[in-house]
Order: sequence, then C-alpha cells, then structure tokens
Amino acid sequence: MKKKLKKAFAVLMCVTFVAAMTTGCGGGSSDSGSAKSEGTDSKAAGDAAADAADAAGVDVKDAKVGISIYQFSDNFMTLYRTELVRYMVDELGFTEGNITVQDGKNDQAEQTNQINNFITSGVNVMILNLVQSSSAPQITDMCNDAGIPVVYINRQPDETESDRWESEGIKATYIGADAKQSGIYQGEEIAETENKGDINGDGKVSYIMIQGDPENIDAQNRTDYSIKALEEAGMKTEELLLQRGDWDQVKGQQITQDALTQFGDKIEVVFCNNDAMALGALQAIQAADRKVNEDIYLVGVDALTDAVQNIVDGKFTGTVFNDYFGQAQGAADLAVKFLNGEEVDAVNMVDYIKVTGENAEEILEKIK
Ligand code: GAL
Repeated sequence: MKKKLKKAFAVLMCVTFVAAMTTGCGGGSSDSGSAKSEGTDSKAAGDAAADAADAAGVDVKDAKVGISIYQFSDNFMTLYRTELVRYMVDELGFTEGNITVQDGKNDQAEQTNQINNFITSGVNVMILNLVQSSSAPQITDMCNDAGIPVVYINRQPDETESDRWESEGIKATYIGADAKQSGIYQGEEIAETENKGDINGDGKVSYIMIQGDPENIDAQNRTDYSIKALEEAGMKTEELLLQRGDWDQVKGQQITQDALTQFGDKIEVVFCNNDAMALGALQAIQAADRKVNEDIYLVGVDALTDAVQNIVDGKFTGTVFNDYFGQAQGAADLAVKFLNGEEVDAVNMVDYIKVTGENAEEILEKIK
C-alpha cells in the first residue's frame, strides 16, 4: 500500500487541475470510439466463464469502459471518479471517449438500467460503485452472463458474494478500504485527547453518532468500531443519539443542530461517519457557540481538504484519510488486468491514514 500511496501522491501535481474540471470528468461520452475485442473471436461462446475471458487481449486504448457512480453529488466519490478518469486517460492510455461515467442518482433501478445499457453497448469492462451493495449477486450474474468483467468499488459486496467469484471463477473483484480500520482510528483519535473525550469528567464519554447510509458496510463498521476502540482504550461511553445523515453535509448540520438543542453540554463528542457530515456538524457547533477541542470533540472520515484545513485551524479534532488515489488507481489497474486476461484477487484493500493535529499540515500538502 505504501508504494501505491507514494505513487498516488506523486501524481498530485495534476489533482488541482483535475479538481477544477470535476464535472467535465464526470461525463465521458458513450458512443464515440470503437472497442473491438481484438483476438477474442476464437473464444467459445455460451459458457459464462469462457465468455468472461473474451475480454482478454483488448488493447487499452480501444477498450470501452462503463463506470457508474452511486451518486455524483457525493463529495468523496467526486474526488474518486475524477482521479479514476484522470489516471485511466493520462497514465494508462485509455481513450477518454471510450469511457462512459454515469450517475446512479442513488437509485438502484436507474443504475441497473445503466448497467444493462453498458452490456448492450458492448463495453469490455465495468467499474461499479453500486447504489446497494446487496444488488451485487444480480449485477454480477448479468455481467458474467454477458462476458464482461466487473470491478466493484467503494461499497463492498458481502463475503458470500466475493467468495462465490473465487469458487465459480467469475471475473469480478472489489477494491476499497477496510471501514473497521477507519472506525478504530476515529475512536483512537478521541482516546488520544487530553481527557480521552470525557470533557466534563463524569467518567463516561457522551456522544452523538451521525451515520452514513446504514445499508453501507462503511457506515456500519465506522459506527461500531469507533466506539469499540474508545472502550478498548478504557473509556465508558454513552450514546445520546444515533441518526442517519446519508453522507450529506446538510443533514449533518441539521442533526447536530437538533441534538445540541436537545442535549446541550451533555454532548462531548460528535462522531460522523464522513467529513461531509462533520463539516455540517461544525456549522451547527459554531452556531451554538461551542468550541471544538475545548468543550466538544468532532471527528470525520475521508480527509476532504476543508476538513483537514479545519484540523490545522483547531476546528476539527481529527479525520481519517480515505485514500481515493490508491483506490481509484487500483480499480483502474484491476480493470486493465481483466482486459489482459490476468487473474485478480477477489478483494483488494487500501489502508486508511489517521489524520490529527500532528500530521494534518503534511496531509494537506499532499491532497490539496
Ligand atoms: C465512504 C465515504 C463517504 C461516502 C461513501 C459512499 O467510503 O467515506 O464519504 O462517499 O463512501 O459510499
């Protein structure tokens, strides 16, 4: 992973430029360019596994790629898809016009349609950020029957599904980051503060938890493991509120505002499953005249630039870098392996990095 992250950071010079053209990168065209499956005609049709192998030998510059992101308006996934397209075109030699990136609009039926259209248009490989990871078995079968390999990103299908890819030789794989690790880092960040999160000294850490979409394993694991880590560090905890904020800044703001009205000074820690919601929480905290790191702690995940800047400025306690460079580049590399007919592991993980006052400046330099 270190190597991958270094490589990722080596391309950061391009990121500022790419960030400015996020929208443009989001929508490759679907019809331009052809993607002939060179050297694949001799493969036997019918058998699904053999069909999947048909992708082998496709030249990267001719390969047609279908990408669907669960929702374009998600801040983190915007950074991710921007880097994904940039890396594929600038560093791997894909043709931009052969890459179609679609917005799943947080609607599985809509996204399933897009995937059906990718199949009809004859893409050579798909990179999919599913709206519902529970749809993976159905989507995998659709793609496998059509002989198209799939790289799943960001939302991990359950283990039964990824085990099936291995046991049945299905050309599907997942790349992401282990959400348990990000939860543990959040808990540790609170445990590392001077009073271990117990600001009022009553022997327990009273917190609110703002959760992402609870269908999502990232939301489940961050919620559970942040608290487990704090308890493992010897602290008792009290959950004042657990509410879903769907990864959304406005919801994070609203939930925190209401919670501050209801629980006031009792709240010692605001745990947010991601930075977008934590940025919303910060707005509510400031509006209520509370001071982060003095009378309340606040942690998120992702290391969005604004969040890391807030750590440098003392307005956020911590976050966790969700390495979208490593994940996006890894996803594209896996797609190329499929195109080359190579074997890949079913599950591929990239490490998270803890971000606190101690290393925030350094991380900021690397991501901004
Ligand atoms: C998480 C990320 C969130 C959100 C979510 C979407 O990994 O931390 O900010 O993007 O993925 O599935």
